[in-house]
Amino acid sequence: MDIQLIKKIKDKKTLSNIDDSFVEKFILLILKQNSKLEAKYKKNLLKERDREQIVKSVRNELNKRYGQFWEKTVDNKNELNLELHSSTRERERIYQDVYEKIFEITGKPKKILDLGAGLNVLSYDLIGKNVYYYVNELTEKDCEIISEYLKNNKYKFEIIKGDVTKDIKLPETDVCFLFKLLDSIDVKDHKTSEELIKKIKARYLVISFSNLSIRGAREMNHPQRGWIERLLERLDYKYTKIEYTEETFYVVDKTRQSSDH
Ligand SMILES: C[S@@+](CC[C@H](N)C(=O)[O-])C[C@H]1O[C@@H](n2cnc3c(N)ncnc32)[C@H](O)[C@@H]1O
Repeated sequence: MDIQLIKKIKDKKTLSNIDDSFVEKFILLILKQNSKLEAKYKKNLLKERDREQIVKSVRNELNKRYGQFWEKTVDNKNELNLELHSSTRERERIYQDVYEKIFEITGKPKKILDLGAGLNVLSYDLIGKNVYYYVNELTEKDCEIISEYLKNNKYKFEIIKGDVTKDIKLPETDVCFLFKLLDSIDVKDHKTSEELIKKIKARYLVISFSNLSIRGAREMNHPQRGWIERLLERLDYKYTKIEYTEETFYVVDKTRQSSDH
């Protein structure tokens, strides 16, 4: 792989923490979508213009999946700050209610796995300290920041660093959160999400999607969201949908088939 290309892509501050292999995955994706560029790349004939095009497209993909969420999340003391984080701020109004509704269905869990947790860790005070948290994030740096926060606040936890679409080992838990994650991992279709949903070893999954655009405005329709309901129905998992203006949650019971009710 072209190390210079990876370096150039990571030159952007919000993308600098990402592992090279994750960047490489998206370089290959962009090349696959553009056969002319791919051919030039393979023959080592990329012009400066071509390289710029690749850098721009890959940064765009990485930003959608990662960079934009980690912008301005730590304050000048290098500590996590809920006020600064768009995704968690969006949820502030509903957090308490969300957890009440989720645990009404799942019962109070002993172990939670939080995939692509981001700053959702800042809401664990609403869940409590009698729970063991397995917390996943993509990059070393973000895992460090999260770990520091959880340690300082005396949570029982374990960090699972890595790309959920790759072969990372997932522990068995009572509940697994996939809050606003699936939109970040799917590429062309929803096969990646399906694989992940099937492989998680938890009775309950809580899957959520934002109903807001990046600028925070309410999006009027989500034709793309029908896929998750069709997928859960095809897999024959029973689910409960909890809807708010800003976010929709699906509490999925993997042990109960939809035909049971
Ligand atoms: C929209 S944010 C949601 C964060 C958090 N779950 C929440 O709802 O507040 C998506 C998160 O998933 C993480 N992420 C994206 N792709 C990932 C992957 N392949 N493996 C693990 N985490 C990933 C990003 O770093 C980011 O923190």
